[in-house]
Amino acid sequence: MTNKVVNPCSEPNTSSSRFYTSIKSNKTSKTVKVLLTGAAGAVGISIAQHLAEQVNLFSYTHEQLDITHADSVFTVIDKLKPDIIINAAGYTAVDNAQVDEAQARLVNCNGAKNLALAAERIDAILIHLSTDYVFSGESDSAYTEQDLPHPINVYGHSKLAGELAIQQHCAKHIIIRTAWVFAEHGHNFVKTIVELIKTHPVLTIVDDQIGGPTYAGDIAKVIGTVVDRITHTDFSADNYGVYHYCGMPYVSWKGFADSIILAAKQAELIAVSPKVNGTVSENYPRPAKRPKNSRLDCGKIQQIFNVSLSDWQTALTFVVGSNNKDLEPK
Ligand SMILES: NC(=O)c1ccc[n+]([C@@H]2O[C@H](COP(=O)([O-])OP(=O)(O)OC[C@H]3O[C@@H](n4cnc5c(N)ncnc54)[C@H](OP(=O)(O)O)[C@@H]3O)[C@@H](O)[C@H]2O)c1
Repeated sequence: MTNKVVNPCSEPNTSSSRFYTSIKSNKTSKTVKVLLTGAAGAVGISIAQHLAEQVNLFSYTHEQLDITHADSVFTVIDKLKPDIIINAAGYTAVDNAQVDEAQARLVNCNGAKNLALAAERIDAILIHLSTDYVFSGESDSAYTEQDLPHPINVYGHSKLAGELAIQQHCAKHIIIRTAWVFAEHGHNFVKTIVELIKTHPVLTIVDDQIGGPTYAGDIAKVIGTVVDRITHTDFSADNYGVYHYCGMPYVSWKGFADSIILAAKQAELIAVSPKVNGTVSENYPRPAKRPKNSRLDCGKIQQIFNVSLSDWQTALTFVVGSNNKDLEPK
């Protein structure tokens, strides 16, 4: 009988069962060495801000460490020997990925695989971010970690391939699937809407895609908790694996836009609220199909790590009203 060697970066499959050994650590926070990749991205900035006080943090932007360069990844990680690697790097241009599949796969799969191999070699833990877009969105209920992924666009395929590469090559991994990220920095839906309402009295926004908008600061906080639990408690090796984490309550893009407009009005960024019409996705075709149901069931991460879920309404008020220069009327 021959063993088939699967390369997820070129050949996606969905098997993920592994056996892990347990770890225990008594390190104090500041002696825990953490390497962060993608440190200048939307989530990366929030993680860097949040973890700087908590751990001994080594942040690398894209410019400083390209995760697709295997040699650089091995050199940096072998030299630094971090206890934990957090991968916030990714190819995130969902529509561009449709015509740039090789690059999306290179970053989201091969890059993730390089980090997984390097982590495994020094027995480090890899914390990685993934997405609701690994699912088709056809389910009637919120997706749990047990649900079978079935991406419907290139980005989703490349992210799923990255998850599989990590599961295959790094025993101690935590993969956090999140969704609809917004922050006070970077490009995101909140900023787009705030820009649009300055000049458009009427907006039309899809109302048949439902998900959980997630504040990047809350993702960073949860990662901080995960780091803390793994390094300071008797963390069972059974708890490595995939987790879902997103904002609550679930809402449509139109519902989210309504809340953004309300927050902008309250923050006095606009004088008059525009009218918002709902529409179906079919009326707003984009290169990459989006899942209609992006709801992630976050019960597992709540139970295992005892975290509270991201309250996007509170975060939105903060982001829109935070005197962010980017958001002020010009
Ligand atoms: N944004 C969302 O709504 C969302 C939803 C679900 C999951 N996620 C996941 O969350 C993670 C972070 O996303 P984000 O929202 O922070 O995206 P982002 O703002 O686009 O940040 C991604 C970062 O990765 C960097 N990067 C790209 N290619 C790289 C490479 N080869 N080596 C090293 N760095 C590289 C980018 O640098 P450059 O800009 O210089 O290329 C950027 O700084 C990703 O894994 C993403 O899939 C995001």
